[in-house]
Amino acid sequence: MRRPLIAGNWKMNLTREESVSLASELCRADSSNTDILICPPYVYLDAVSQAVAGSSINVGSQDAYFEASGAFTGEISVGMLKDIGCQFIILGHSERRHVLGESDLLINKKVHAVLSGDLTPIVCVGETLEEREAGKTLDVIKSQFDGSLAGLTADQIKKTVIAYEPVWAIGTGKTATPEQAQEVHADLRRILAERYNPETSEEVRILYGGSVKPDNTAELMAQADIDGALVGGASLQSDSFIDIINASGVSAG
Ligand code: 13P
Repeated sequence: MRRPLIAGNWKMNLTREESVSLASELCRADSSNTDILICPPYVYLDAVSQAVAGSSINVGSQDAYFEASGAFTGEISVGMLKDIGCQFIILGHSERRHVLGESDLLINKKVHAVLSGDLTPIVCVGETLEEREAGKTLDVIKSQFDGSLAGLTADQIKKTVIAYEPVWAIGTGKTATPEQAQEVHADLRRILAERYNPETSEEVRILYGGSVKPDNTAELMAQADIDGALVGGASLQSDSFIDIINASGVSAG
């Protein structure tokens, strides 16, 4: 049985004061049925970690660099993130792939670095609207899966979280229908079973992301292969994020 994970990706939003206050408000969320994660901008990670200390809220970052230390101006290592209390690291988000030009090869190096550091990578995959309309969704997902997750052992993939985020549904208000999302999640589970084995594929959590809101969470989470959500906009307010957490806990499984 896969335990749901609801992750908030704050992206490049909020001030320090707003971050700490949102994190503190989230400490009242009920985590009895759901793992909860928040991913603030790097500069607020330390303050947010302190604000949720002693609660069941996990803190993660939105990226990391694969080298441990050295002359990599502007980059942040996995060890540094671990040092300030991160447990999860989002990698290969579509904004990093499409706005910042990250390749599967780079993402793959980061995935290996995060796993070597004993943290949990959340690896994002997803097609653009153009790719979906050209009937290429499955090809894109397969190629991102094989590129970003290359060389992982079965034990490592079990520790990895995959997030399916159709690019056309991010920040647009256009959610994939539960059926559209489930179709790709089932494809991902099938790819996992083919590349590893059915038992391993059943253990991997696959999150959906793209305009997740309190009122569409329950029907998304009711799908057999959707194990949680990666939430952008609706994670920036405590009420909507807590409503999503509550809706995921009752409908999971
Ligand atoms: P929105 O929920 O704002 O569509 O963002 C989704 C996302 O990109 C989460 O990583």
